[in-house]
Amino acid sequence: MKPSSRLEKIPPYLFAQLEQKISAKKAQGIDVISLGIGDPDTPTPDLVIDALADAAREPGTHQYPSNRGRQELREAVASFYQRRFGVDLDPASEVIPALGAKECIFNLNLAFLDPGDAALAADPGYPVYTGGPLLVGAEPVLMPLLPERGFAPDLDAIADADRERARIMYLNYPNNPTGAIAPDGLFEQAVEFARAHDILVVHDASYTETTFDGYVAPSFLATPGAKEVGVEVFSLSKGYNMTGWRTAAIVGNADAVNHYWRLKSNIDSGMFEAVQLAQAAALTEQGDQVARDMSAIYQRRRDLVVDALREIGVDVTPPKGSIYVWAPVPEGHTSASYADLVLEESAVVVSPGGAFGRSGEGFFRISLTVPDERLTEAVERLRSSLGG
Ligand SMILES: Cc1ncc(COP(=O)(O)O)c(C=O)c1O
Repeated sequence: MKPSSRLEKIPPYLFAQLEQKISAKKAQGIDVISLGIGDPDTPTPDLVIDALADAAREPGTHQYPSNRGRQELREAVASFYQRRFGVDLDPASEVIPALGAKECIFNLNLAFLDPGDAALAADPGYPVYTGGPLLVGAEPVLMPLLPERGFAPDLDAIADADRERARIMYLNYPNNPTGAIAPDGLFEQAVEFARAHDILVVHDASYTETTFDGYVAPSFLATPGAKEVGVEVFSLSKGYNMTGWRTAAIVGNADAVNHYWRLKSNIDSGMFEAVQLAQAAALTEQGDQVARDMSAIYQRRRDLVVDALREIGVDVTPPKGSIYVWAPVPEGHTSASYADLVLEESAVVVSPGGAFGRSGEGFFRISLTVPDERLTEAVERLRSSLGG
């Protein structure tokens, strides 16, 4: 059966080969530890589960929700943004729930890109920034994120032709996969750039609540002028251990939020209202504490991994945010050959940087989302098998 030419444009899944090797090892009875995917291992906090259970018993939550979202949720997002980021949002026009950041980011491509348009996408970056534009007949234009620039894109290097056809720019800090935090001045520069070229800035705030060493991540919307040109997609997946719940919100520019709503009301019927009320419970001060406690757990795990990598000769910079450690592969290896070596020698899975885009080549990514004892075991294996 032939799929659409649109679907044919999506590049092959780059982890496929690695996954086959992992399956083969597991079939041989080898205990493989995966530090590949970023999916929190710790359960969703009780305050969220209790709110869901209570709301699910309310028949008023059982019918079709509206894509605008319940008032309680829109207000909870707005007061979270004020308390946490000092950003004012109008709950009536500047906040809408989304079924996860992934859904929202993909649909923003449908809402804002026509064939021939371009989206400026971080490289390396979350795959939907490039796959989304391709699926709607537009084109991703890669913005390399390089260590020498603190993993900030060089907006001055974007070609004139690309500036003219770009309709969206994707930014994401704290960043997946590099763990970088928002470089000084980048958000201000993005606002100027977007104004000059009539571009919608989409800031993916999937990791703002997971930060270390006292660093507190800002919202893009706290940048002067940001609301005129941009939106932020705030996800609860990582910061609140809610990947399975599909909870996020799009906030910011009222026109953009409204276009997203118009599109969404033609695509799906919104988020189960009991889940909306559970999401609202996560965004209270009690929820802020949960996110801080999780950050402390990831910081401890980060230190464990960074120490071990340094001991085996990998020169790694400890990240100040996200749930990942991004490290250079030792000389003589590609990211794929190093991931293979680590799997062969240690039965530990790391993600090859090249899978996140051309500029990710030369790096590998470790996810901190495995229980402490498994992470300790993985680190011991790296030390003993690759320690030299
Ligand atoms: C940068 C980034 N954006 C979005 C997502 C997906 O978030 P959600 O679970 O809210 O769809 C991820 C998940 O790994 C991510 O790393």
